[in-house]
Amino acid sequence: MDHSRAPVLEALEAFRRRGDVVFGPPGHKQGRGVDPRVGDVVGYDVFRSDVLLLNGLDDRRESQGVLEQAQELMADAVGAERAFFSTCGSSLSVKTAMLAVAGPGEKLLLSRNAHKSVIAAVVVNGVEPIWVHPKFDADRHLAHPPEPDDVRARLREHPDAKGMLLITPTDWGSCADVKGVAEVCHEAGVPLIVDEAWGAHLPFHPDLPVWGIDAGADLVVTSVHKMGGAIEQSSVFHLQYDRVSPEVLKQREDLLGTTSASSLVYATLDGWRRQMAEHGRELLDGALRRAARVREAVAELPGLVPMGAEVVEAGLAADLDPLKIVVDVRGLGISGMQAAEWLRDECHVDVGGSDTCRINAALTHADDDTTEKVLVDALRALTERAGELEPRPPVRLPEPSGLELEQARLPREAFFGEAEHVAARDVVGRISAETISPYPPGVPAVTPGEVINAEVVEYLRSGVAHGLLIPDAADPSLETFRVVARGQGH
Ligand SMILES: Cc1ncc(COP(=O)(O)O)c(C=O)c1O
Repeated sequence: MDHSRAPVLEALEAFRRRGDVVFGPPGHKQGRGVDPRVGDVVGYDVFRSDVLLLNGLDDRRESQGVLEQAQELMADAVGAERAFFSTCGSSLSVKTAMLAVAGPGEKLLLSRNAHKSVIAAVVVNGVEPIWVHPKFDADRHLAHPPEPDDVRARLREHPDAKGMLLITPTDWGSCADVKGVAEVCHEAGVPLIVDEAWGAHLPFHPDLPVWGIDAGADLVVTSVHKMGGAIEQSSVFHLQYDRVSPEVLKQREDLLGTTSASSLVYATLDGWRRQMAEHGRELLDGALRRAARVREAVAELPGLVPMGAEVVEAGLAADLDPLKIVVDVRGLGISGMQAAEWLRDECHVDVGGSDTCRINAALTHADDDTTEKVLVDALRALTERAGELEPRPPVRLPEPSGLELEQARLPREAFFGEAEHVAARDVVGRISAETISPYPPGVPAVTPGEVINAEVVEYLRSGVAHGLLIPDAADPSLETFRVVARGQGH
């Protein structure tokens, strides 16, 4: 296919050249009505390019096939059979992908180190989750994706499960053995969905971990805004084989998706595909070299330990995304959250993520010598100034088994059923009616229907005292917990 073409961008250019006058949304009318105080900050071109697909980029019948051609080019560029763009982020794409494989009441295997959007999907879709526990790396206090044998064992216990959802790479760059898991799923005759929100760049360089479609997954969801070059909320479904029907996927997407997709998202997805198809190899070559240099420089800094290939071993990660610079800061006597806050306040450096032990900085094709130097200089300054940081009460991290909570109720029943608040001192043994996701990193420690244990309470409450945020809990201070009402369960 001709990857120098960019159908959405070309349609947008044509729309602007024609000067169509629109009597439908968006009401700002390509910027005519924009308040200058908005336009001056975000730029008028944002509004000029904010056009609907129907009777905008394309006609009412979509006879130009603008979106279809852009999606075909995307599929061709990455080697998928089909690709569909979504403008609602992978948070929604993950829900749709799960719904395309398992409907209400059906079982789906899910990696438990899932992003909160997966847990939300379990509640909204009414699917019965069969959790596959991740590999806990006790030394690093880090979860790696589950291995093929873990998936095989759960599929044997639940032969009626409709499929499996794997999350890889994790936010920390740790990758699963996708090929192995795909084989296990296919032996059992079920599809593998991969939540590859962090992996949009993987198809474009051979030295990066293998991406889901090449590894044999059936349905792969990527967030191009995370490691790629499209704007926020840009997400793509990639499909191959016949275990997930494109028709079913489209219809279920239609249940959840917007009817007013953003042309800015479509256009930047289209442009990213062209950029990667034409220059991805060399751009990512540069990013990989830069990441290796940064890792080497960080390794020289006292008190900082960059995570590298040593994490790739049986029982831990199957591979590692080298563009995620993950740095353990415990040697400085501070937490990752403290490091992240200090870097932002003192150096105006905003890291990608942080937890009790570490921070991460994602490098992409967009980094250059300046950003590389800013990052390394800021980390050096952190090592010099960490001793001045105000001490905080420690986070009491649980043993890995402390995070494997018993699932006593279906998440949907627990979430929608009668609930009450109980004080933290009385909550052990009660069934949660809410999702509790420490931010960072946003992976739920407790999901609705799980029995809350003492270790998780201690972890979360000591975390809050230290500075973890719990934005999704009804009481973010965790003085109280929202649990299934007595008489409804425990
Ligand atoms: C593993 C994973 N899946 C899905 C999502 C949701 O993606 P989005 O932000 O595109 O909605 C995230 C977001 O951080 C994520 O980390």
